[in-house]
Amino acid sequence: MQEELMEIALKRNFMMPSNEIYGHTAGFYDYGVVGAAMKRKIENAWRELFLWREGFYEIESASVLPENVLKASGHVDNFGDPMVQCRKCRTRVRADKLLEDALKKNVEGMKPAEMDALVKENGVKCGKCGGQYGEVVWFNLMFATTIGAGEAEKGYLRPETAQGIFTGFPRIFRALGAKLPLGVGQIGKSFRNEIAPRQALMRLREFTQMELEYFFNSADAKHPRFDEVKEKSVRVRSAEMQKNNETGAHEFSCSELVEKKIVPNEIVAYFMYRTAQFYEAVGLKREKFWFRQLLPNEMPHYSKGNFDVEVETSYGVIELMGLAYRTDFDLAGHAKASSQDLSVHVEGQGRVMPHVVEPSFGVDRLFWAILEQSYRKGGGAEKRDWNWFDFAPIVAPFDACVFPLMKKDGLSEKAEALTQVLRHEGLSIYYDESGSIGKRYARADEVGVPYCITFDYESAEKGTVTIRYRNDGRQERVPIKGLGERIRGLILDGKTSL
Ligand code: GAP
Repeated sequence: MQEELMEIALKRNFMMPSNEIYGHTAGFYDYGVVGAAMKRKIENAWRELFLWREGFYEIESASVLPENVLKASGHVDNFGDPMVQCRKCRTRVRADKLLEDALKKNVEGMKPAEMDALVKENGVKCGKCGGQYGEVVWFNLMFATTIGAGEAEKGYLRPETAQGIFTGFPRIFRALGAKLPLGVGQIGKSFRNEIAPRQALMRLREFTQMELEYFFNSADAKHPRFDEVKEKSVRVRSAEMQKNNETGAHEFSCSELVEKKIVPNEIVAYFMYRTAQFYEAVGLKREKFWFRQLLPNEMPHYSKGNFDVEVETSYGVIELMGLAYRTDFDLAGHAKASSQDLSVHVEGQGRVMPHVVEPSFGVDRLFWAILEQSYRKGGGAEKRDWNWFDFAPIVAPFDACVFPLMKKDGLSEKAEALTQVLRHEGLSIYYDESGSIGKRYARADEVGVPYCITFDYESAEKGTVTIRYRNDGRQERVPIKGLGERIRGLILDGKTSL
């Protein structure tokens, strides 16, 4: 599955190994014309659900951060992985993953020295050449750089987009009316010098995050829209279930999660539901993902509750996003290190340091999960013999294709003119006139375009076109007038069959 899908993803220009003509450095992938279009749609779906509908705002902060910022956030001292190198073939691997694979043991939270002892005691050997491993050491995952010439200042590429939101908090807070709660998001690149980048988009050295920081008064840890979600349920694998070695996940309503104290407050439950809603909207199947409550030894010391969304993929179970109650750890840390007052005034309470709940999404892993779950093989019971993608229309790389039935009798010119009209109405349209109409339908299916609009002889005479629906291949004839609105409506309804 992985190899077949990767071959298709490369061939149809969803993605490309970065700088491939120079041999490709592991951990970097570029998005091609089809993939970049689709990635933007995923990001916009997140903006819509997590920012616009919530009345939250987005910033765009610097990717290079001076050392003092990342010292205060704890990244300079703590952001790393235990690493071990084979003495013979020099291959470096993550010691925790090595031990988990070799001993089937969870070593989360262990110190490098403890892992080192386990490697030695159990005689764990290099998976590649059978050689002996050296000592387990701590490796900081940030890319270091220098800022400016001469007495250059030390800096790093940001390992997460969140820090720019914390350092910008005082100005953002004042600009937005100095009121809590406040939600600020950011979509952008993050950089981690992963020891063993692998599994294509799953562990990259440069990747995209979509992070929301929700600032609130901890004396009032309620969510103003909790009523909208309290009866809705999400799939959760609680700490209790993990302790009892129960498999799978259970359905919990958001109010149940609060009552049973599985979540620290209703804000976390609220964002759990919105997260599940987002994943389903972009095309993940509900039964394929769940929220796993992190165990005490997996959580940072300042956290009051963390959940990971895990998804089943052909690479195994992968973490898709993290939802964390970070308390006031970040703002308090930056206030101390910068000697700035980052607390806010709350009527009747005085100065308060806001607390934060953070839903932190990775785009790249989600992109791959969507590819896997939407891939359909042709042949057999399937009436088409080409492979295709069943993308949710809101994330399909193009909203629609426009084809002239023939390249003659002025049909091309008219179809191109229609394409321009639809593009000016804000739709992303792929225009194609090469090969037979059947081949063009197949090409559209192969990148998951949900609707194909054909301009034929009747179109020129009667002002109508046909729309072919991707999933059942059936067609309907509709007026050209109002076509843009009709397509937009189909996308919003998620309609893929007639
Ligand atoms: N601000 C919190 C934070 O950064 P994280 O769990 O380290 O949390 C959030 O990262 C998400 O970013 C992950 O769930 C994952 O989707 C994505 N991510 C992290 N490291 C990644 C990597 N090396 N390659 C691809 N995606 C990654």
